[in-house]
Amino acid sequence: MQDLSELIESARKDFAAAEQPAALEDAKARYIGKTGQITVLMKALGQLAPEERRSRGQEINRAKAAIEAALNARREALAEEELRKKLESEAIDVTLPGRGRTPGGIHPVMRTWMRIEEIFRSIGFDVADGPEIESDWFSFTALNNPPNHPARSMQDTFYVDRTDAEGRQLPLRPHTSPMQVRYARTHEAPIKVIAPGRTYRVDSDATHSPMFHQVEGLWIDENVSFTDLKGVYSNFLRCFFETNDLVVRFRPSYFPFTEPSVEVDMMFTSGPRKGKWLEISGAGEVHPNVVRNYGLDPEKHIGFAFGSGLERLTMLRYGIDDLRLFFEGDLRFLRQFN
Ligand code: DAH
Repeated sequence: MQDLSELIESARKDFAAAEQPAALEDAKARYIGKTGQITVLMKALGQLAPEERRSRGQEINRAKAAIEAALNARREALAEEELRKKLESEAIDVTLPGRGRTPGGIHPVMRTWMRIEEIFRSIGFDVADGPEIESDWFSFTALNNPPNHPARSMQDTFYVDRTDAEGRQLPLRPHTSPMQVRYARTHEAPIKVIAPGRTYRVDSDATHSPMFHQVEGLWIDENVSFTDLKGVYSNFLRCFFETNDLVVRFRPSYFPFTEPSVEVDMMFTSGPRKGKWLEISGAGEVHPNVVRNYGLDPEKHIGFAFGSGLERLTMLRYGIDDLRLFFEGDLRFLRQFN
């Protein structure tokens, strides 16, 4: 008859050799599973003589209890080992230095935007914001553009796949000038406002990007003249570039929404960019038709408007010669401004 102490010993060894819970359960099956050795011995009891059966049965039960005890002890040991490993791998060394966090910075074009708001607020201008998906009317018609003006064409302007009530496709605003009309129609004169924001045109090279920024300015009262435009805009440039060493000229030009119209050029009279004229903005006295579209009487209300590119101003302020740098998100470039 099989020596049960050997069987117990062999189970203990097998359990001790199991390194994983799954291996331990396999080992268990070999002894006390459905076809395990203990189970087989139990089943064989029936073939013994009755007097032998009783003592042998007790012996097998004791062996089974011993094997179960060994199994449970090993289960606990494995569970403990697993917990120990987990704690070890997840331990935090609180004495290590922190990883540190790099704070975000302000994009140079945004910095320009903020500075412009600050400068114009300081002389009593409101700051307005408006939709980037505009209507054809606000973008062109209200600004005195003739129906076949090239700016309307698909080559210059992006359109979205939606139409307005008249069946005209909606443009992505190609300039901030619609904000003149939007603001003037919803505010009482006198009007003093700037509207900085994103604008869109089908254009892409070193000095043009399909998305860019402009700031629109508008001052309407009963006597705001071209002289006021010259004074306000020249003063703005001196504040923005933080220097008096610049000269400003107002060169005759054409825009449908102003009369007279000018392009504003400036020249630094010192520093590395001394002596070169740089185009910086469109401007003019608002055309009577546009004043009418504001809902005002051009016989009574008059004033100036301007529209300047924020990328342009930023490039001049920092001496950047490729506009695409603004949109590439290269931190080596951007970090220089923070
Ligand atoms: N909207 C013009 C453009 O995008 C710029 C401009 C010119 C705006 C003259 C004005 C203005 O308000 O008076 O090219």
